[in-house]
Amino acid sequence: MATDNAELTYLQQQQRTRHQIEEGIISAFAPEDEALRNALTSARAAGLPEIQISPIQGKLLQVLAAACNARNILEIGALGGYSGIWLARALPAGGSRRLITLEINPEHAAIVRNSFEEAGVSDRAEVRVGKALDLLPHLESEAPFDLVFIDADKPPYPQYLEWALRLTRPGSIIVADNCIRGGKAFLPPQDEAMAGIVELNRRIASDPRLVSLLLAIDDDYTDGFAIAVVKH
Ligand code: SAH
Ligand code: DHB
Ligand code: MG
Repeated sequence: MATDNAELTYLQQQQRTRHQIEEGIISAFAPEDEALRNALTSARAAGLPEIQISPIQGKLLQVLAAACNARNILEIGALGGYSGIWLARALPAGGSRRLITLEINPEHAAIVRNSFEEAGVSDRAEVRVGKALDLLPHLESEAPFDLVFIDADKPPYPQYLEWALRLTRPGSIIVADNCIRGGKAFLPPQDEAMAGIVELNRRIASDPRLVSLLLAIDDDYTDGFAIAVVKH
């Protein structure tokens, strides 16, 4: 498809505008402090992939945590603890508030523990090492979770949603990352990862227990969260 110069200039201007809007939102509503920046620096130094959520997504998780009065949060897929810090900071002060984050890679988990320590959230945030599908059945005694954030490997996304439904209560919020994937989520899946995402979207959109939406807020509005509230 031919793109002439005027059109190219227009597209570049649009992209600059979107970036400027994002920077404006981040600086006004979701600035990173030293602990968040340090978590990213140590993750990068350890060679972890840079696939953490954005500051806007981190702040959205905090808004959602406040909306459901979250005291008990579950994350599936910790990476270096960046999203975990945003989530742990959304917990109210005092007593029995907790974030549990599941991570299959022990090297990632070591970075997470260090980042939680440096961010001062180790008292309330815990990483459990193992395959999420093995760990989830053991969480039933610690349920219900008020907020569940799904962000691990994509093929089992539908199973993670099923576990999230088992481990939550009416009024809980379930969020899954990477549910748009540049629009691939709306096409027939070409691999196991996309098949998982497409099936999660199908279920989260149609489950009568949920009211849900996809929100394009990441990667220049080409990826983002599926968000669902468990109905009363
Ligand atoms: N939520 C993180 C990013 C997570 S990236 C953030 O925004 O900061 C996905 C993570 O899931 C990786 O660290 C990967 O090791 C982990 N993971 C992949 N498969 C997993 C599984 N089966 N069980 C638990 N964790 C898994
Ligand atoms: C990938 C995984 C993620 O959770 C993400 O946010 C971005 C990319 C990936 O596996 O490529
Ligand atoms: Mg993700």
